[in-house]
Amino acid sequence: MRALARLPLDASAFAAKYGPWVVIAGASEGTGECYARELAAMGLNLVLVSRRKDALVALGEALNAAHGIEYRAVVQDLTEDGAGLAIVQAAADLDVGLYISNAGADNFARFFEDGTAGAHRLVRMNIVTLVDASNGFGQRFLERGKGGLIIMASGAGLGGQPNLAMYSATKAFEISFGESLWAEYAERGIDVIAVAAPMMATPMLLRTVPEGFDISFAYEPADVTHNALAGLLAGEPIQIVPDGPGQEKQPQVEADRKARLVGFVEFNKQFAKG
Ligand SMILES: NC(=O)c1ccc[n+]([C@@H]2O[C@H](COP(=O)([O-])OP(=O)(O)OC[C@H]3O[C@@H](n4cnc5c(N)ncnc54)[C@H](OP(=O)(O)O)[C@@H]3O)[C@@H](O)[C@H]2O)c1
Repeated sequence: MRALARLPLDASAFAAKYGPWVVIAGASEGTGECYARELAAMGLNLVLVSRRKDALVALGEALNAAHGIEYRAVVQDLTEDGAGLAIVQAAADLDVGLYISNAGADNFARFFEDGTAGAHRLVRMNIVTLVDASNGFGQRFLERGKGGLIIMASGAGLGGQPNLAMYSATKAFEISFGESLWAEYAERGIDVIAVAAPMMATPMLLRTVPEGFDISFAYEPADVTHNALAGLLAGEPIQIVPDGPGQEKQPQVEADRKARLVGFVEFNKQFAKG
């Protein structure tokens, strides 16, 4: 597995800023499960959302036994109409300090041959559900004066990729959306980070890659999610984990994107409504 240096993370500062409840959309396996495990170890309670109730309950019970946290299992298909609002509603009685938009992967497909049903499902999951859930939780964060949003995007969102037209395009939406919200709310106590995630050895990836594929190129998902949590607390707008062609230039791309955003935060103060 490819090594990734873990960033420092102050667990008690994290829990104080983003607790007591965290909602994870796509929590039963892969990076969603990694988030759940690290957050539970920090003492945060979890709303675990996905399609498989058994998997959510098994994870929640294990984390309750290991760390004494509370959990709620919410069965919701993120590709359905109304999914984002349903998630906000399912956590209406809880003091939520962090929403993690995690699920969002797709299989390789050629666009013209594949029709548009899958494309529309991806738009609903990665765009409509993200927009509705982050708007709903964001309103609550504004009322409580603090909160956080992690958007699991992908390096595929930094530019186009063959066989990933819809995936790449929705991930580009996620990155720009996250950066914009960071610039809009960074000075109002709400932190937002978009993660341009690399290839990670998640169950989804292992089910998808062809036989004989060299998985040693992939990162350990728990390293990537740890750094996303650390990056959120550190106030970073975007995290690009080096991967793929041109990866040696990606730290500079990340720095340039942040500098541009900071410039816009200052520039836009002349238009501020108050
Ligand atoms: N793995 C990689 O190499 C890679 C690379 C770059 C970026 N990413 C990004 O990282 C994130 C996580 O990726 P992943 O590899 O862990 O796979 P994923 O399929 O995006 O996420 C898996 C989790 O999401 C849930 N899920 C999937 N589809 C769902 C749906 N329609 N409704 C509700 N829940 C759903 C699954 O649980 P259920 O089966 O119980 O529903 C599972 O808990 C995604 O946003 C992906 O785009 C991954």
